[in-house]
Amino acid sequence: MNSTIRRFGDLEAMSQEAASYIAGLIRNADRFSIALSGGNTPKRLYGLLPDQDIDWNKVHLFLGDERYVPPTDPRSNEKMIRETLVRHIDIPASNVYGMYDSAGWRESADRYDAILRSFFAGDSHTFDLALQGMGDDGHTASIFPGEPATYDDRWVITTDGPTESPQRISASLDCLAAADLVLFMVDGAAKASRLAQVIRGEDYPSAVLAGKAKNVEWWVDDAAARELR
Ligand code: 6PG
Repeated sequence: MNSTIRRFGDLEAMSQEAASYIAGLIRNADRFSIALSGGNTPKRLYGLLPDQDIDWNKVHLFLGDERYVPPTDPRSNEKMIRETLVRHIDIPASNVYGMYDSAGWRESADRYDAILRSFFAGDSHTFDLALQGMGDDGHTASIFPGEPATYDDRWVITTDGPTESPQRISASLDCLAAADLVLFMVDGAAKASRLAQVIRGEDYPSAVLAGKAKNVEWWVDDAAARELR
């Protein structure tokens, strides 16, 4: 496992660099698949990507996790990603893969599992880039502390989230860890102590993912990094 930490003065600087970095990764690829995170941290990055020189025809946008709500619901990660990124870029509609399926919560997970297995069939890794956030409890995607670290061989599972959006759909840690690169973006002082624990390898989902992944980059702002040695 190859792991690096990059520090930035603030989230703005991190987001600016991430937009340029991801554009460079895409330019060097024939096909590029990204698992996008929800939450607040990546919103600025998503808003900056449309200004990058990217051929979106070769990009495939997936979700790393979702709340089981329709994409019209304000809690929907798909809604946020369409509003901040997708509607501002010229990407084929078929290259954007939402997780929500009105057929049902578990049916949505089963359907997405099949989509990923078909898309990555025969590949040596899953996503080219898994863009991850970390909650202040150490969760990532919708894998929360106390969840099993593995789900047999499933790539997409259902999990129980916090009260405001309990029904979650998530790529499993094994699926995310099989990405070519896992890039965590973590900002803010509220996450500083948890980040230090995770970087030390304490038992939180973000640490488990980082430990399983082939290549991990931690992009952190100074406030989140203040307890790192
Ligand atoms: C979600 C996200 C989740 C997020 C973390 C960090 O659905 O909420 O996918 O895993 O990355 O909760 O969220 P913030 O970026 O808002 O701190």
